[in-house]
This record gives sequence, C-alpha cells and structure tokens, in this order.
Amino acid sequence: MPQRVNIGLIGTGYMGKAHAIAFKAAPTVFSLSATPVCDLLAEVTDELAERKARELGFNRSTGNWHTLVNDPRIDVVDICSPNYLHKEMALAAIAAGKHVYSEKPLALSAADAREMVVAAEHAGVKTLVGFNYIRNSATQLAREIVASGEIGELIHFRGRHNEDYLSDPTLPHGWRTKRMTAGAGALGDVGSHILNMAEYLTGQQISDVFGQLQTIIPERPLENGEGTGEVENDDHAQALLRFESGLIGNMETSRVASGRKMGLAYTLTGTKGAIVFDQERMSELQLYTQAGPQARRGFKTILMGPEHPDYVAFSPAAGHGLGYNDQKIIEVRDLIEGIVGNKALYPNFRDAWRTNALIEAIERSHAEGRWVHINEM
Ligand SMILES: NC(=O)c1ccc[n+]([C@@H]2O[C@H](COP(=O)([O-])OP(=O)(O)OC[C@H]3O[C@@H](n4cnc5c(N)ncnc54)[C@H](O)[C@@H]3O)[C@@H](O)[C@H]2O)c1
Repeated sequence: MPQRVNIGLIGTGYMGKAHAIAFKAAPTVFSLSATPVCDLLAEVTDELAERKARELGFNRSTGNWHTLVNDPRIDVVDICSPNYLHKEMALAAIAAGKHVYSEKPLALSAADAREMVVAAEHAGVKTLVGFNYIRNSATQLAREIVASGEIGELIHFRGRHNEDYLSDPTLPHGWRTKRMTAGAGALGDVGSHILNMAEYLTGQQISDVFGQLQTIIPERPLENGEGTGEVENDDHAQALLRFESGLIGNMETSRVASGRKMGLAYTLTGTKGAIVFDQERMSELQLYTQAGPQARRGFKTILMGPEHPDYVAFSPAAGHGLGYNDQKIIEVRDLIEGIVGNKALYPNFRDAWRTNALIEAIERSHAEGRWVHINEM
C-alpha cells in the first residue's frame, strides 16, 4: 500500500485553492512515493471552513487553525494565509512536530524568518516555501543551460517581476497595502519571486544591494467604505545587485505596472551566449549561442516539450503548454518526495530567510542611500 501524507491547509483564498488543486492532481501527474491526502482545512469561521472543505475536497474542517496544527493525524501544515500569520502558524506547527509548506514571503521581517529557520532546523522538520515560478519547465531548462556552461561564464543578470494588480487607485486598502499584515509591498510580494529566481538561476548568492522604492498611490479607500487610509509600503522598487562571485545585475518589481499581468522576466548574459525568458510566454525560452557563422546567428525560440524538465508528466505532445497551476503540482511533487525520501527541499525556510533579508537590505539601502550587505540583516 502506498504511504499517505495527511495535509492540513490553512487559508483558502487564491493560494489555498491553487494548493488544493495541486494536492489533488499531483498523484495523477507524477508517480509519487506517497499520496497526499486533503484531510483537514482551516478558515476564519466554522461555516466558511465547512463550505471550502466541501468545494475543495477536504475530509474535515475547522474554524480554528490551532486545532489543525495540533491534530495528531496531520503530517504537513500548509500555510496559505496572509503574510503576517505565517510566523505564528509555522512556529505552532513546528512545535507540534509537523512539516511546514508555507507561501511566500516567509515572514514580515528577516528577524522573524530567522526565528522560523532556527525552530524548524532544531525540530528537524522539513520546510518548503512557495516560490513556484522556479518549477516551470522553461526556467528549469534555463538553470540547466547556465549550469552546463553552454552560454559561458555568466556576466550579467537582469530580472523583473512587474504586475498591475493595484494600478487602479479605487482598489481598497487590503492586507497587502499595510505594513503590519504584508511587510514590504510589491518588493515583498512579487519582488520576492524574482530575488529567489536570481539565486536559483545563477546558482549564486546575492551579497550586496543598492535599492530604490516608491509608493505611487499614497492613499486608498478603506474597506469599510469610510474615507481613505495611507498606503504603508512600496508600489514599486528596483535594485542593483552584486553576487558573491562578483557577478552584477539588477531587479525591478511593481504592482502598478500598467499592462503587465504576469511580468516575471529575466535575461542571463554569458560570455558565450544569452537566455531571455518572459513568464507571459511561459512555454518559450529564447537562447542565443555563438555557434555557427556570424551571418546565421540570432536568438532561437525553444518551445517546451517532453524532452524538457517535468513536461512529459503532463503531456507527451510538444508545444501544448503548461500553466501556472502545473508549477504548483511540481512543487507538491517535490514536497512529498522530500518528506518521504528525506531529501533536501529547495527553497526551504533557510533559503526563504535569505529572500527576506534581501528585501530588508533593499529597504535599508533606499533609506540610507548606500550599498547594503546581506549580512547586515
Ligand atoms: N506563490 C505565489 O505565486 C503566490 C500568489 C499569490 C499569493 N501568494 C501568497 O499566498 C498567501 C495568501 O495570499 P492569497 O492571495 O491567497 O490571499 P487571500 O486573501 O486570497 O487568501 C487568504 C486566505 O486566508 C484566510 N485567513 C485569514 N486569516 C486566517 C486565519 N486566522 N485562519 C485561517 N484562515 C485565515 C482568509 O480567509 C483567506 O481565505 C500570501 O502569503 C501571499 O503572498 C503566493
């Protein structure tokens, strides 16, 4: 009989649903060493939890997340709540001896993230953080090409994650626009993805940053309809990056970039070639190499197919394309195999703590007008 891994999901908004889809689909897409079972779901009230458990196919529900983390039948606590709750929920889950799968950013601050790393490592539980874009076939291929030396030695990284989900000034003040509930703004939300991506793709750690942040829409209508409130974090940000090897690069991120819906993109330039990628065309990777005569050189488009990482598990037909939720299915495969096979998971709490530290370093750099080293965080 295959082993079962009982999942306890907290939060059923955008991400909670994406995780539920992934847990259900993962055993049909991949041959897993154990089956994830959608066992217990927690929401803010008993009624909402019960309805969501029915809709998302969970066995049981509770209106109190403490009940979930302390339930002896739960193996993995999956945290899909707003950022400010990640730390409290993760520490409680770790204290109860559970493995923890958390959404990003890991915490509101680097110090909080550090506390979570220490607790998880001391308890010896497995952790995984939802930086799902690194699971896309094209991005896994980009990393393979860089690591193989096919484009020579890396000499530059350029990355952005720009969206326009808050470009409408009439959209209300929600948890994402408040310091106490979100931490940083675009920089912590979508910016965290491109910072993690920079380290994943290059295989190198960022050591120093020089940042700049701005809030473009300073006030938003309050959710109760009574007046407006001050937006407490950045709408967009950018930073110069220096990696430990001396490699240089830059990043930008926005939640008010009109027209950009899924604008995660990067260019990796090497001494012998380059890679260009845009998540709005997530099945395509642009590759330039110095092979062949000058007159025939140019970027070529590689359309993902069964020869590329993790694609064939979804489809035997080239060019038919994966989607956003497929990245989460791959992430869940890694979670289950990491737990059952006792393998290292990436990005775990320690890796995600680095991202929190980079976010804070960019904020400090902006405030103090100087380069900031990650070790200052
Ligand atoms: N990896 C990604 O691509 C990605 C995308 C979007 C969001 N996220 C992250 O996922 C997390 C959730 O974001 P979202 O967009 O799903 O938010 P959301 O507002 O859509 O959903 C949050 C859910 O948490 C529930 N919740 C709040 N307090 C709770 C409590 N005390 N107990 C139980 N449930 C509670 C809410 O009722 C809601 O259902 C955030 O950390 C966000 O940064 C990641």
